[in-house]
Amino acid sequence: MTLPEGPGPTVAIIGAGRAGRAVALALTRASVPVLVCTRRKSSLPPDISCSLEPWTLALERAGIILVAVPDDAIEDVAARLREAVLTKAVVLHCSGLRDRSALSALEGRVAGLGSFHPLQTLAGDSEAAERLHAAYAVLEGDAAAVAAARQLAAHLGMRAIEINAADKPRYHAAAVIVSNYTVALAAVAERLAGEAGIPAAAAGRIYLPLLEGTWRNLEMRGTADALTGPIVRGDAGTIRTHLRVLDAETRRLYAVMGLEAVKVARRGGLAAAKADEIEAILRGAL
Ligand SMILES: NC(=O)c1ccc[n+]([C@@H]2O[C@H](COP(=O)([O-])OP(=O)(O)OC[C@H]3O[C@@H](n4cnc5c(N)ncnc54)[C@H](OP(=O)(O)O)[C@@H]3O)[C@@H](O)[C@H]2O)c1
Repeated sequence: MTLPEGPGPTVAIIGAGRAGRAVALALTRASVPVLVCTRRKSSLPPDISCSLEPWTLALERAGIILVAVPDDAIEDVAARLREAVLTKAVVLHCSGLRDRSALSALEGRVAGLGSFHPLQTLAGDSEAAERLHAAYAVLEGDAAAVAAARQLAAHLGMRAIEINAADKPRYHAAAVIVSNYTVALAAVAERLAGEAGIPAAAAGRIYLPLLEGTWRNLEMRGTADALTGPIVRGDAGTIRTHLRVLDAETRRLYAVMGLEAVKVARRGGLAAAKADEIEAILRGAL
């Protein structure tokens, strides 16, 4: 599919929230004509065109309509778009969880339906727009939608990868675990550092270089070779001491994550007997 060029916007984005703004900024920087459709006045940079409801006429000239509203509002927006003549447009939404069926009110009325999930954490600012570059865009939909989504990814400098609709919830749960729960783990580390007497101003910062080193190991070596620390070393005594000093809730967290680390350590070559011993210690702390 080739997106139309000319008088209309190439991409119309519905919603000027975190994701909508980041994509709009990134496309504008890539010289792709963009129109942002909102239901109330929002402060976008002056070089980005904005349209208030009703968007019908403006949308009829778009090649791609990207619905960037909360997951629960996608159906509502799709129902409102039924009034527009959108036979030339592919409509995509940005949800990581939902699939094209969230847009089913538009079935048969548009050129294609699908989803375009930017696998990145976006806060709607300039930095978020930059962060889209080289991140993955996970695509799902009918053939026309996937072709248009690939083109959108190319405009944004993103790496496109397809997924089946039924697999999206599992894929999205993984994104929550790796991104949101890393933040939650950092908060646990900050609390423990504070309890260990590290001054409050430093408690949230001292683990960041460690986190960065871990990320670099993951990038360069993959999970099995990235793991360092007592589990992969087979230091059962260190693990017992950690479990002794932690409060009950944090101990359970340590044990649950530790059991995952044991699986990685086994793949990385930890001797079976040592892995079994550590696994038993961790199971005893659940
Ligand atoms: N933020 C991220 O990191 C990220 C990353 C990947 C994918 N996504 C996906 O992107 C989508 C949007 O998320 P977000 O984080 O950008 O949300 P957000 O910051 O809360 O922004 C949502 C926008 O949608 C508008 N909106 C809400 N209900 C609407 C409706 N019924 N009709 C029209 N506009 C409506 C809101 O406008 P008002 O100001 O008028 O309320 C707001 O501008 C979600 O599907 C999310 O899963 C987000």
